[in-house]
This record gives sequence, C-alpha cells and structure tokens, in this order.
Amino acid sequence: QHCFTKSEDGFLYCEGLKVDEIMDFVERRPFYLYSKPQITRNVEAYKDALEGLRSIIGYAIKANNNLKILEHLRKLGCGAVLVSGNELRLALHVGFDPTRCIFNGNGKILEDLVLAAKEGVFVNIDSEFDFENIVAAARIAQKRVNVLLRINPDVDPQVHPYVATGNKNSKFGIRNEKLQWFLDAVKEHPNELKLVGAHCHLGSTITKVDIFRDAAIIMVNYIDQIRAQGFEVDYLNIGGGLGIDYQHSGAVLPTPRDLIDTVGELVLSRDLNLIIEPGRSLIANTCCLVNRVTGVKTNGSKNFIVIDGSMAELIRPSLYNAYQHIELVSPAPEDAEIAKFDVVGPVCESADFLGKDRKLPTPNKGTGLVVHDAGAYCMSMASTYNLKMRPPEYWPSKQCPERYSSWKKGGGEEGLLVVVTVPESASG
Ligand code: LLP
Repeated sequence: QHCFTKSEDGFLYCEGLKVDEIMDFVERRPFYLYSKPQITRNVEAYKDALEGLRSIIGYAIKANNNLKILEHLRKLGCGAVLVSGNELRLALHVGFDPTRCIFNGNGKILEDLVLAAKEGVFVNIDSEFDFENIVAAARIAQKRVNVLLRINPDVDPQVHPYVATGNKNSKFGIRNEKLQWFLDAVKEHPNELKLVGAHCHLGSTITKVDIFRDAAIIMVNYIDQIRAQGFEVDYLNIGGGLGIDYQHSGAVLPTPRDLIDTVGELVLSRDLNLIIEPGRSLIANTCCLVNRVTGVKTNGSKNFIVIDGSMAELIRPSLYNAYQHIELVSPAPEDAEIAKFDVVGPVCESADFLGKDRKLPTPNKGTGLVVHDAGAYCMSMASTYNLKMRPPEYWPSKQCPERYSSWKKGGGEEGLLVVVTVPESASG
C-alpha cells in the first residue's frame, strides 16, 4: 500500500485526494505534501520486524525535522537521533524520552554535551577530543553519562562517496587500533562515564543487507572484546542507512524485516539491546514536492521543462546526482509529444536540476509536476538561495475525503489540508 497512487485516468492521488485539485488551494508553490498514514505504516514495519528483540528505533531527525512529524513519530514510540545542539533541543521540546535519544556527531561542542548530560541522553564518543569534552560535560552537569563508542568498522556501504561514513578514511568514529586507548580512558573516569555499548553507521541509501551483516559481525566481535575487559555493555547500535526504491522500478529492496532478520540472531546471541537509527526509510516515501510547470523550452539538443521548484527546495539531485522519480499530476493532452526532458528550476545556475533525461509528455504551462520520495533530506536541506522561500508543508487532514466533495474553491485550506508548517517568511 502506498500513499501516492495514479488512477487509471492518469491523475495522481495522495490519500484519496487529487493532487491536481489540492494545488488549487495552496497559494505558495512549490510545497511539500506528506501522508501521515504512510509515516505510521513505515514505523509499524520496523516495529513488526523488531518484535521479540529489545530495541530502540531512534529516528534520525536530520532527515526531516518538521515539528508535527516529530510529534507523530514520538507518539508512535520512536526515540531520536541527534547531531546538533538544536536537534537535541528540538527533540526535548517535542517530548522525546531522553533515555531513547542518542547524541551523535564528530564535532559536538561542550555546551551541547552539557545539555545532553543533564537530560540523560546517550552520547556517542567519536574521537579523543570528543571524549575529553564528554568528560568535562559530565563534570559540569554532575551527571554520569551513558556513552557508546562509535566504531569505524571499515565496511564499504557501496553508495555515493558523500553519504558513505563507515570506511576507514572517513571523518567519523574510532578505528580499531585506538579501541584500547578509549577503553582505558573510560576506565579512568568511572564517575563521569558509563560505557553502555558500541555504535557504527555505515552510510546512507544502502540497498544490500549483507553490508549490515558484515558490520554487525565486526561489531559483536568488538562487544565481545569490550565485555572481556569487564564492561557491562548492553547496546549494539548499528546506525541507519537503509535505502529505498527511488527509481520506482518495482525492484525488490531490503525491507526493515530483511534488515532485522540479517542482524537479529547475532543480537540475540549476545543478549544485546539493538538500537537502529533510520531516517530515510521512515520518511522519504511519505512525501512529494509539488511544483507547477512554468514553461517548456529547447536549446541545442536539450529539452527543458522549467518548474517553480528548484535546487533551493530540493538539492539532492544537484548535490549527489540523486535520482528522484518525477511525474505529472494530471493526464497530458492526447496530442502531447513524448520526449526526453531535463526538469529544471529557475535558480541561476546549471546545477539547478531536479531530473535529467526524463521521458515525459510535453506538459502545458501550469501543469502540476511532482518529485517523489521527497520526505527525507529535502525540506531539511532546503535553502533560501536566490531569496526563494523555504516551502510550506502540508498533509491531508483526517476528515478530508468526506469534506472534499463539498469543498468549494477559494474557501481556504482548513478541512482539506493541515498546514504542517508554513515558514515564517511566508507571511512577509
Ligand atoms: N545515524 C547516523 C549517525 C547518520 O549519520 C545518519 C545519516 C543516520 C543515522 C540516518 O541515515 P538514513 O537512515 O537516513 O540513511 N543528505 C543525504 C543523506 C545524509 C545522511 C547522513 N547521515 C541524502 O540526501 O541522501
């Protein structure tokens, strides 16, 4: 079951609402359109897979930090994975249980570590200086901090180099030759630190579960070594990174169940509490960026569809050459010529594209066009480049299927869509 479906007559729907008609009611474009039920389904898939294991689902807030979405994820029982002081403050504000939160990062600063220590969140040790800062924070907060060692397992995640984090030359984590130094250092600080586990994160958009298995084997070996020295470590944190089918190819990609099936037995064999840190696989497929076609043009051998959305709202194609599926929200006129287009925005640089060489019917001006799977690392990476405004975000309201038919154009947005966020700048 998926939230965005195309009807036989060629209209795109989100949770039973015609996207084409939703567009009539939203003044600002582009905008993000989410499905709340899809978020629920994604979390449930993880929960089902984790049944029978002691575990924490730590949602990686960096993927999408919309307040309503965070509240929803918290209510569903997720913890939170944080990489900045402000993400930590936001998680606390939303009411995430601090003992289900994990503070990550290779450059955590003292002030933020003090807050983490006071609140009792797990902190991952990333380096020697990070260790020193965590000890200092524990003293200031007068709290013993639960720490995990972030180990760099040197496993190749087979992804774009910008989103690989677990290979030995990356800036993240601790290499095995330094493990003993950290164990000795923790031993010397029993009042400040309690070593409770080991963490790794291999990278993002991973599509083979064997990669997680390789890492889990390495990690439980480390845990055996750590336990052999008298530490009572209980947590194995295998990070996030599960990919999704951005191509919409129907390819069978690993599911949460496939992931947990691959590592579950290892976890049980050592009686560990498993922490996972999914971002993308919880939120990416719950959202579209909804745009309008401004016009169509041809230069040399290239055809372009120019839309109002751009790299400012959605930078993944420009930054990682990432593929996100693009389609029109309504059927093209029968005589529309099908051609290959680059789908581009109005921003003043040639890196401003949402898709390249996409086979699409030539759209009329004003046609709606969506970029799929835009729930993760899209709004959270949006900028105001060219003084574009960060887009508003909506999800269809609960009552809307019933109220929809009687809903009149121009009547406002209430009842049809719930405004998840309209950024401050929208009112200006
Ligand atoms: N845990 C740690 C320590 C991480 O660094 C990350 C992501 C996650 C968990 C969540 O990973 P996920 O399940 O979402 O793959 N901006 C890039 C992705 C950067 C990922 C950074 N770290 C993109 O748009 O593809």
